[in-house]
Amino acid sequence: MIDLGEYGARFAEDPHPVYAELRALGPVHRVRLPPPDQGHETWLVVGYEEARAALADPRLAKKAEGFVFYGDDLIGEHMLLSDPPQHTRLRTLIAGEFTGRRVAALRPRIQEITDELLDAMLPRGRADLVESFAYPLPLTVICELLGVPEPDRPAFRALSTEIVAPTSGESEQKAFVELAAYLRDLIEDKRCAGPADDLLSSLIRTTAEDGDRLSARELRGMAFLLLVAGHETTVNLITGVVRSLLGNPGQLASLRADMTLLDGTIEETLRHDGPVENATFRCAAEPLDIGGTAIAAGEEVMVCLSAADRDAARYPAPDRFDQGRETRGHLAFGHGIHYCLGAPLARLEARVALRSLLERCPDLALDGPPSGWLPGMLMRGVRRMPVRW
Ligand code: HEM
Repeated sequence: MIDLGEYGARFAEDPHPVYAELRALGPVHRVRLPPPDQGHETWLVVGYEEARAALADPRLAKKAEGFVFYGDDLIGEHMLLSDPPQHTRLRTLIAGEFTGRRVAALRPRIQEITDELLDAMLPRGRADLVESFAYPLPLTVICELLGVPEPDRPAFRALSTEIVAPTSGESEQKAFVELAAYLRDLIEDKRCAGPADDLLSSLIRTTAEDGDRLSARELRGMAFLLLVAGHETTVNLITGVVRSLLGNPGQLASLRADMTLLDGTIEETLRHDGPVENATFRCAAEPLDIGGTAIAAGEEVMVCLSAADRDAARYPAPDRFDQGRETRGHLAFGHGIHYCLGAPLARLEARVALRSLLERCPDLALDGPPSGWLPGMLMRGVRRMPVRW
């Protein structure tokens, strides 16, 4: 048993050395989680091949007897909490909205929001990149897409951040309760307001027209998942790329000289230090073996994406950030049936944001160390990133 809580704050700031130690010992470990999940025990998969196989293994399910995910009752049912055939049904209902082609149509609006944010930020000469740019961009995009009214967004943002990076178990539970109540009201308002041009309104119509295909719980769950997954992660991709580049001035110069390197730089940031550190919990629906470790039915398994993507057996010199490297197969968006639905949108937002930021800030630099590493083991990222230009 390895107690991850013993590594203290430095584990939240940089878990990679710990994951390297674990990988050297073997691909799967029994661990005790750090705060706020202190004391909770689970299996942790850190080897690349084992992680990839586990993510695609139907024996590792979301629902198994005796396995309860709290928040489920409040938020409702959603894709990341369900198995086939229910998962297939939920995903099929929405997948068409997030294909590469559909998402490409959002580019002009994403560019417009990016330009407005930079117009407001640039005259100031210095700013917190998270607050002024990386956070409002994806938040605005997903809220507009789903139809969350502008005055509600700051409150929504505070609740959703508490859920993905909880400061304590108590405050996480409180945020679940408040967000569930907010979503219930939002859906009710939209139902009363009648047809509108946003995704949530159209999902409500789907419910009505197709003989109740989405229940009220499922509708709430869908809204929750799309809204939360749709912005908390992309913020950390945008700041992650900037952090990687400012820490590697040679590669920043290469990118400035040749913007065709941007896609590779984004993919390498995803591999090297992606926004999602661990996939969401899975549970063994029957006994199985992962990398020589016997997992009993009913036991929890966490797949560590950050550790898997730095496995030297898959990516040579894995700790080195190299925008030119072959990154195919990285697990930053997951793998298997739960592979990130929003990957095309996240990549598009990151491309537009980073291209515009670099073009309009030719001398972008850090203005102090990035700080406020997100607590918990779900997300990698910082709350503050002071920059100047
Ligand atoms: C850089 C940004 C993003 C990253 C790194 C990311 C990462 C992930 C990962 C790792 C998973 C799988 C989790 C698991 O298997 O437990 C996932 C699932 C998901 N993501 Fe993303 N995501 C990002 C952006 C987005 C965006 C913009 C959306 C908006 C629509 C989104 C929607 C979803 C949904 C709906 C799922 C669940 C899919 C399913 O269960 O079938 N994500 N994401």
